[in-house]
Amino acid sequence: MGALEGRVAVITGAGRGIGREHALLFAREGAAVVVNDRGGSNSGDGVDVGPAQEVANEIVAAGGRAAANTDDVATWAGAEALVAQAISAFGGLDVVVNNAGILRDGFIPSLSESDWDAVVAVHLKGHFAVIHHASAYWKAEAKAGRRPNAAIINTASASGVTVPNAGQANYGSAKAAIAALTLVAADELERYGVRANAIAPIARTRLTLATPGMGALMAAEAEAEGSFDAFSPANISPLVAYLAGEKCPITGKVFAVQGGAISELAGWHDVKTIETDEAWSIDDIAARLP
Ligand SMILES: NC(=O)c1ccc[n+]([C@@H]2O[C@H](COP(=O)([O-])OP(=O)(O)OC[C@H]3O[C@@H](n4cnc5c(N)ncnc54)[C@H](O)[C@@H]3O)[C@@H](O)[C@H]2O)c1
Repeated sequence: MGALEGRVAVITGAGRGIGREHALLFAREGAAVVVNDRGGSNSGDGVDVGPAQEVANEIVAAGGRAAANTDDVATWAGAEALVAQAISAFGGLDVVVNNAGILRDGFIPSLSESDWDAVVAVHLKGHFAVIHHASAYWKAEAKAGRRPNAAIINTASASGVTVPNAGQANYGSAKAAIAALTLVAADELERYGVRANAIAPIARTRLTLATPGMGALMAAEAEAEGSFDAFSPANISPLVAYLAGEKCPITGKVFAVQGGAISELAGWHDVKTIETDEAWSIDDIAARLP
């Protein structure tokens, strides 16, 4: 019996890359999967049902349960329709994996308003919108006496969470906010039987292949590693499947995951405190803070 037998999962951006691996593993482990993917370019332009449909077809051909969906998670209505499809197609919803993403890199002085808005919309609003609609369903279930055993897995990034990546002000800001959103969601939704965690993955996908230097580095290291491909996107999915499981107790955590390594991350914390017993003077701060 699979680790996710009988669970219903929505996975966003599951037509390619890391999300596709999540969908294939979830289905092999017994979950019914709504494979959401807009099917657009790296920068989020265009719509194509192909990627989501191909993954859904692959799952069904292997004897699993899946349905394709091309709703835009960056819109309230798209996220609502996605959640509704899972409930109508498979009779409920147990897991949300927020994974859809785009890149529109640029340095701050030249980053356009539309490149800021699009990246923040797909990542941050796209996470929140799906969480919002799924949580409304889970809250109603809990109020009706059917306490959910549900899980949310969000996708943050080292860019924003552990490193300030030059050229990714939009992406890094959204990813840091996703880590914060995860902690708030874990805190708020526990009362309805919902856990929330996030991952910060590193893997070879079209997004990282488009990052200067990354493609060649990953290919060279994969070859040097021999049989274990440390940059395969499939390395990310077992952690996500574990976090999605009924028996997993973990909530409110962010994990870095790449190759054979999983690290628990922790956020902002005090590193230095200066204190006064009276009102601060600017000079006093200047003398003591640097
Ligand atoms: N690959 C890495 O090393 C890496 C590192 C850190 C974070 N991430 C994150 O992992 C996630 C998956 O990225 P990936 O590397 O597999 O890239 P990818 O481009 O292969 O997959 C992302 C998918 O999301 C889909 N998508 C984009 N906008 C969408 C929308 N509005 N609605 C629905 N689907 C949409 C795309 O069509 C694409 O198929 C992203 O959130 C990314 O930021 C990846």
